[in-house]
Amino acid sequence: MTPPGSRGLPDVQRRDEGTRVVALHSQYPADLVGVPGDDVRLSWAAESTTATAQVAYQVRWRDDGEPAPNDRGEPCPDGDLGEGEWHDGEPVLDDRSLAVVPPGGAIPPGRARSFRVRIATAHGWTAWSAPLRVEAYAGGFTAGRVIGSHDGVPIGGPALYLRREVHVDRRPVRARLRISSLGVHDVLLNGERVGAEHLSPGWTSYEHRILVATHDVTAQLERGTNVLAVVVGDGWYRGRLGWTGSGLYGADLGLVAELVLEHADGAREVVGTDSTWRVGLGGVQCHSLYDGYEVDLRDEPDGWNRAGFDDSGWAPARVLDVPMSRFEPRIASPVRTVAEVPGVVSVGSPSGTGSGAAVTRVDLPQNITGWLRLRVRGRAGERIEVRHAEIVDDAGALRLEPLRTARAVDAYTLDHDGEHVLEPRLTYHGFQHADVVGGEVLAAVGVAISSALTPRSELATGRADLDRFHENVRWSQRDNFTSLPTDCPQRDERLGWTGDARAFAATASTLFDSTAFWRSWLRDLAADQRPDGAVTTVVPNHLLLGGAAPETYMQGRAGWADATLVVPWAVYESTGDEQALREQLTTGRAWVGYLADRLASTGTGFLPEEFQYGDWLDPAAPPDEPHLATTSSAFVAHAFLVWSARLLGRVERVVGDVALAVAAEALAEEVAARTWARWRDHALGTQTGCALAIELGVAPEAEHAVVGDRLGALVRASDGRIATGFLGTPHVLPALTRTGHDAEAYRMLLRDEPPSWLYQVRQGATTVWERWDAIRPDGSIHDGRMAQGDVMLSFNHYAYGAVIDWVYRHVAGLAPDPADPGYRTLVVAPRPARALGRASASVLTSFGRASVAWWVDGDDLLLDVEVPFNARARLDLAVVEGSRVEVVSGRGGAVDRRAIGPDAVLPAGAHRIVVRRARFADVSVGGGAGGRVVSGGRVVSGGARDGGA
Ligand code: BGC
Repeated sequence: MTPPGSRGLPDVQRRDEGTRVVALHSQYPADLVGVPGDDVRLSWAAESTTATAQVAYQVRWRDDGEPAPNDRGEPCPDGDLGEGEWHDGEPVLDDRSLAVVPPGGAIPPGRARSFRVRIATAHGWTAWSAPLRVEAYAGGFTAGRVIGSHDGVPIGGPALYLRREVHVDRRPVRARLRISSLGVHDVLLNGERVGAEHLSPGWTSYEHRILVATHDVTAQLERGTNVLAVVVGDGWYRGRLGWTGSGLYGADLGLVAELVLEHADGAREVVGTDSTWRVGLGGVQCHSLYDGYEVDLRDEPDGWNRAGFDDSGWAPARVLDVPMSRFEPRIASPVRTVAEVPGVVSVGSPSGTGSGAAVTRVDLPQNITGWLRLRVRGRAGERIEVRHAEIVDDAGALRLEPLRTARAVDAYTLDHDGEHVLEPRLTYHGFQHADVVGGEVLAAVGVAISSALTPRSELATGRADLDRFHENVRWSQRDNFTSLPTDCPQRDERLGWTGDARAFAATASTLFDSTAFWRSWLRDLAADQRPDGAVTTVVPNHLLLGGAAPETYMQGRAGWADATLVVPWAVYESTGDEQALREQLTTGRAWVGYLADRLASTGTGFLPEEFQYGDWLDPAAPPDEPHLATTSSAFVAHAFLVWSARLLGRVERVVGDVALAVAAEALAEEVAARTWARWRDHALGTQTGCALAIELGVAPEAEHAVVGDRLGALVRASDGRIATGFLGTPHVLPALTRTGHDAEAYRMLLRDEPPSWLYQVRQGATTVWERWDAIRPDGSIHDGRMAQGDVMLSFNHYAYGAVIDWVYRHVAGLAPDPADPGYRTLVVAPRPARALGRASASVLTSFGRASVAWWVDGDDLLLDVEVPFNARARLDLAVVEGSRVEVVSGRGGAVDRRAIGPDAVLPAGAHRIVVRRARFADVSVGGGAGGRVVSGGRVVSGGARDGGA
């Protein structure tokens, strides 16, 4: 029966057999156990042959058994860990299917709750969905203390081995291991790895938050004696970081864990880390993220991670004094193996070290982050050394300059004659090539690791080089999403540069399901934000710990610090989930407040003159001083102020306070006007100046066409040569498209002479380069020299991959609508080019798969658009006067063609659209299709212009 007060709800007796709910999910990765239980939100997709939209939904939930005994050991009423009753929430007359707060309140700590959803369409109700199970974090450690060694283990020295035997009389119905560490750890239970993850707990702002993993170890526990064995290494906690040195967060390696066994009768056993654990050393002699891993396999304590090992020679653990409030549940996926890439092994020559050892080259087809797994044959006592590099030169030698001071060498001393499988731990390298010195290499596999786990999209065009570039960007994201968004994976840096994240956030959210990853990192950004509101340049910000003066160039820099608003806004646009906005509202307000204070501090209405990274790596900047870009850093700083204030206004309107939105918008307008008055002429002289003026809202709307024309002219004059750095690059093609200069946008995109995106592909790149000319046309490699003397040259830097956002939006023509985000409204705005012939893209949205595919048919454009259930598509097609847009339905003789506007809105379903006499970006206007250019029904330009990409 329809409950009272639910007028308009479809009768529950009416069934819509043609619709079913699929893909019910929460905001947490599906395989994460122990997530915060107090803010779970549900989203779902549905498939339907009968309807296009949802009109109502209902959620039911059931807790797994009753709450276990509390921490004082009081038993729960019946101790049943079976399944409880289903509770039905009220049906809700609402078409929302994204980030819905379910009924039932918070999930009790440590318990699991299952949810099912059903929806109603105009035809009635669906069946209940398959259940989604979410298990809540059990809360802080009660029995576990942070433990380490009594003997200080030197940084960079041996790894710490910790073990504890646990006797289990009867198999529990549920066993969970909660674990974290000061340093990175690998944990084994009875000799088997727990959780297929690496480098846990990852890098966060350790002074504020250290992440706790919860593992389901029920199946791994045995009756009798079990052994928990953990290896802890320096990782980010003690290892060296950038140029700041090592030991920044603390001097001691530490481990904290709790094994909780729950029995069917309600009994509960908890084994925590304490002084009964034993601590020893093994064969791992040194290990470092930058420098690599060295193990003497002869020194590995035989059987230490299994029952029966005599650890009487090991020392009892020391309890360390660490504030337990730092430990919190993780919300994002850990680093895992995401691919195994077979290596090509070429038997080499003697090493030239005088040892007579042979050198074997291993080449991977792909630049990866991770390590090599080698199958080698060798002799007991023989040392096998693996040296990694991103590139080799023409002579075939590994080029080590991109590593800077990172040694990136793994070494193994063998413990027996014969075959071995060798693989490092507690380290990673960014590399494509390796030299193996010693042994006989029988096989080599590149193990690629990443936190970027679920690809979300696909793209294909008529140009193989563009498709390869897209693939390179995906790899650079994989390779740099290693617990935090790093600048590059190979050199002695690998830091969470906020400017790189700002440039790439929108692309990242399209390519992989990155929401939880960003939310976790943004918590660090918030934790590290200075009290005055300045956002740090790297997150986690270890620089202050390393002795940088608080007032140095490391805080509040334009285009870097703005990540605080740009990243959550990109997540919101791409997923529709407001959570990231809500969580960053305070940091965003504080950041814009900081900028307003800076403005006020000068009394001139302008920001103080100070160091800016500016349009970093503008190809015209001196190679050794990449901040000396052609576009004024002062202009850029004001442009980004304007943008942050505008974004804050938007965020306030969605999740904050309208009065504060109005104030932020007023600040943006005021600064924009002053900035434009002062720098207009300068900005019109550079690609970055024009692009920022349009895209960040510095130039008044009325001048956008003029600025766009100027930008178009600059691009034509340089034959599509890219002239932008980290700040301009993400905005130059969007600015061209917004002002009707698609031909120029393609001219830049498809250029393959340096500097350009596709030039890298022509040079064989498999990831995105840091410098446009990292390898020159003559094959010589950039020396990367900086004025201070060090080298800055990376072949795996995602920032310039930001152009892929435009490729999805306007080459394929698939984008989320910021006014109705998460692809609930898809914006279908391809700007087709004959040079491509075809393009297609799909994104796995919360509503289901959305896709666009187009191809050229003479003067016509054919377009297939797939709109998921409960979503819609807003067309914004490129037409000219005389174009006709038709939607085609039916097949064979019964084809129906209906004329629609170029800005029509289409419901869920598969649609075939034909644009007769379409507008192609690379056909000069006035020729070809001819006529005035109209975009989404608006005339954007009347004049003929030189097109021809
Ligand atoms: C990093 C960049 C970063 C920059 C700051 C470099 O060393 O690799 O990607 O944003 O410094 O200017």
